[in-house]
Amino acid sequence: MKRTLLGVSMFMLIAIPGLSIATEGLSEVHHKEIRKHLEHVTQQVDSLSGKTSQQQRQIMQQIVAFYGDHVQLHLVWEREVLYPAVDKYVVAIYSYTDPMRYEHKILREWFGDLEAISSGSNPEVKKFISKAYNMLGLFSAHLDVEEAIFFPIVNKHLSPEELQKIMSEKLPKDS
Ligand SMILES: [Fe+2]
Ligand SMILES: [Fe+2]
Repeated sequence: MKRTLLGVSMFMLIAIPGLSIATEGLSEVHHKEIRKHLEHVTQQVDSLSGKTSQQQRQIMQQIVAFYGDHVQLHLVWEREVLYPAVDKYVVAIYSYTDPMRYEHKILREWFGDLEAISSGSNPEVKKFISKAYNMLGLFSAHLDVEEAIFFPIVNKHLSPEELQKIMSEKLPKDS
């Protein structure tokens, strides 16, 4: 996943030399796949109440695995690479990206809650469903805010060279 994400990013930059990455480009590379997964996870959550206990446990585990498979790398890259690159251009008493970082923290915690609920000996499925819908709502709104407010700032302040540099940054292994 890590290599694919960055590989696509680099490909876009290499394929269109000198062209500034448009806001849609960042959304395309970094959010499009996640949004598709969010749709699928929503369908999985919708289906939970009508399943057998065994099926419910399996689906809940798949939803929890979504974090490690598709979310974690994205959050780490933004926190360690993209957000700091933008923070240096925005003068404020506090870091401009603090609210977005805090939403990442909430998402990590809520995935932890989902994991805890799903791994219990007798999982509370209703509680899982409620928490999962909260997670989906926050995540979707978080992507909307980044695309509407944050990516245009990236696009305005970062040169293509700077963006290329941060796209190729090595990521820390853990969040
Ligand atoms: Fe984010
Ligand atoms: Fe994002």
